Amino acid sequence: MTVTDEVTPTAPAVGGVVLEASGVTMRFGGLLAVNNVNLTVSEGEIVGLIGPNGAGKTTFFNCLTGLYKPTSGQVRFAGKPLAPKPRLVVRAGMARTFQNIRLFGNMTALENVMVGRYCRTSSGAITSILRGPKFRREERETRAKAQELLEFVGLGKVSEHLARNLPYGDQRRLEIARALATDPKLILLDEPTAGMNPQETRQASDLIFKIRDSGLSVVVIEHDMRFIFNLCDRVLCLVRGEALIEGTPAEVQSDPRVIEAYIGAGGDDDDDDVQDAEVKS
Ligand SMILES: Nc1ncnc2c1ncn2[C@@H]1O[C@H](COP(=O)(O)OP(=O)(O)OP(=O)(O)O)[C@@H](O)[C@H]1O
Ligand SMILES: [Mg+2]
Repeated sequence: MTVTDEVTPTAPAVGGVVLEASGVTMRFGGLLAVNNVNLTVSEGEIVGLIGPNGAGKTTFFNCLTGLYKPTSGQVRFAGKPLAPKPRLVVRAGMARTFQNIRLFGNMTALENVMVGRYCRTSSGAITSILRGPKFRREERETRAKAQELLEFVGLGKVSEHLARNLPYGDQRRLEIARALATDPKLILLDEPTAGMNPQETRQASDLIFKIRDSGLSVVVIEHDMRFIFNLCDRVLCLVRGEALIEGTPAEVQSDPRVIEAYIGAGGDDDDDDVQDAEVKS
C-alpha cells in the first residue's frame, strides 16, 4: 500500500502512516553511524533496509526502538512522538527481532513467547504473587495466545522444546513469534534469514507476507538481495550512515550507485546478489 496525493490535512494518509522517522542521526564519538535518515512506513507496507556491512542499519533500528537515544532527529509512531525507551516503544506497538538472536535459551519456545505477551497483560505484582483468579485467567489466555503464535510461525509442534535446542532457523522464527506476542502494528526484523538455507529463506518470505496480510507493517534488514527485492514494496539503501536511495525494488536494483556501494564495500558477494536477483514485476 502506498501513500497517494489524495490526503487531506485532517485525514491520515491512505493506509495510514505508522512510522515517521525524520532526520535520525546517531553519533558515536567521531563516527556518524546514522546521518540524517528519514523513513516513513505506512500500514500494510513491507519496507526493506539494505546496505553494506557497517552501513548503520542496525543502529538505525536501535534508534527507532529506543535502544539508543538518537543524537538528533525525531521518531513518530501512529501520529505521536515516540520517546526513546524500549518499554514505551513496545507498548506503542513497535516490536523487533535482533541480528544476534536474543532468546531465553533455558526456557521453552512457549515460555519465550509468553514473556513477549506480558507487556499486554494487566496482572500486577500482588495479583501474580497471590495467583488469584484474575492471574490464572490471564495466564491461561497468555498460554493459548502464545501457542497460537507458535502455530502461526510454524513452530506449533515444538512449543515445549527448550529454545537453545531449536535449530537456528527455528530460533529466528521463535524471535518473530515473541515479537508478535506484543501485539505490534509494526515489526522490525534484523536479518531474519541470516544462517538459513534456501528452503528456510523461502519459508521466511512466506511468513513475512503472512504477517503483512494479518495487518502489520514490516521493515526488514537483509543482505540477501533476492529475498529483499522479491519481498518488499519499497527499499531504502544506507551507505556509511546515509540514505543513498529509496525506491521500488526495480529502481533500487538498477541504480548503479547501489551496486557500486556493495562492490566498494568489498566484503561478501552482496554485489553479485544485487545484479542477479530477479525482481517481482
Ligand atoms: N554502540 C556502538 N558504539 C560505537 N560504535 C558503534 C556502536 N554500534 C554500532 N557502531 C558502529 O556504527 C557503524 C554502523 O554499525 P551497524 O551495526 O549499525 O551496521 P549494519 O549496517 O547493521 O552492519 P551489518 O550489516 O554488518 O550488521 C559501524 O561502524 C559500527 O562499528
Ligand atoms: Mg546490522
